[in-house]
Amino acid sequence: MTQHSTGTSITFDRATKTYPGAAAPALDALDLEVEAGELVCLVGPSGGGKTTALQLVNRLVDLTSGDIRIGDRSITDQSAIELRRTIGYAIQQSGLFPHYTVADNIATVPVILGWNKERIRARTAELLELVGLSPVETWLPRYPAQLSGGQQQRVGIARALAADPPVMLMDEPFGALDPITRVAVQDEFLAIHRAVAKTTLFVTHDIDEAIKMADRIAILKPGGKLAQFGTPAEVLSNPADDFVAEFLGAERGLKRLALTTVGEIVTGSSDRVGAGAETAGWPDVEATMTLREALSVVSAAQAEGAIVHAGGSRLGEVSLHDLIAPPTAGEDREGVRA
Ligand SMILES: Nc1ncnc2c1ncn2[C@@H]1O[C@H](COP(=O)(O)OP(=O)(O)OP(=O)(O)O)[C@@H](O)[C@H]1O
Ligand SMILES: [Mg+2]
Repeated sequence: MTQHSTGTSITFDRATKTYPGAAAPALDALDLEVEAGELVCLVGPSGGGKTTALQLVNRLVDLTSGDIRIGDRSITDQSAIELRRTIGYAIQQSGLFPHYTVADNIATVPVILGWNKERIRARTAELLELVGLSPVETWLPRYPAQLSGGQQQRVGIARALAADPPVMLMDEPFGALDPITRVAVQDEFLAIHRAVAKTTLFVTHDIDEAIKMADRIAILKPGGKLAQFGTPAEVLSNPADDFVAEFLGAERGLKRLALTTVGEIVTGSSDRVGAGAETAGWPDVEATMTLREALSVVSAAQAEGAIVHAGGSRLGEVSLHDLIAPPTAGEDREGVRA
């Protein structure tokens, strides 16, 4: 699926930051290109320079050397204020203004840009719907303190999207959420991303979140050096070094199986000789399940495979071997790169 990107590329060109008085750089000669419309997750250990990388882009922090370009234009080519109007920035604690209502928080940048009241009202309503806060009248007059953490983060994301910036920077935007809310907000954000395809640089500590969300993952190691940059499938199948392998964890092989759905590898019953006898006692799985989930079902049933269903009808089967050694695991992800 090719998306219609509304974004602009972000290019780090040997971007380096050494904070005053520090012996070593926090971010060391980072070369990274986030393509227009792409969602790149930036992961790495605490203190690895992730927040610094984001804050360099919107000039909350100044480069020591190197350059960052948005599209063809260097970030130093324009005023910081002008630059920030083109960037949506969402952070962990939502960063909402406590004395502004939800409506006023979302309207912050549109007001600065001089939009008229009607346009702001329509945009605010549209965004609240988009992040799943409806009916909008319920939410508009509330203050941040009257919202749960997850609701605040949704409003934070709506505010970041308000003026339709070509670039989004997100620093652990779901970090404060419990696991269930987090999955719901991830799914919502991915749906929004698929709909609007903003160029997005997304910082997370959570490698599973990165694997789920990212078109490509950039892994920083201590000292702010880039350890690896690739698709989730590339990174999981070929970690660049021991640091990356350790960072991905012992379940790297299983995580890779989460990149492919059963529907992508299912074979029709007619392809399998003597299918009737062979598949007796196999459990049912849905085509939308990941290989990792299906493997769990097959293991629980102590079977040699599973019967695959979609929309109530039988599609075919997957054997245990298909599940653990899929022919194309993760290599066919939908993404911005057609
Ligand atoms: N304003 C600052 N002044 C001096 N040093 C700083 C400043 N901000 C960050 N640092 C240092 O730069 C390094 C990178 O910090 P940064 O906040 O970018 O890490 P991070 O990868 O975002 O970490 P975390 O995952 O904990 O949020 C750290 O060693 C940190 O102490
Ligand atoms: Mg940080």
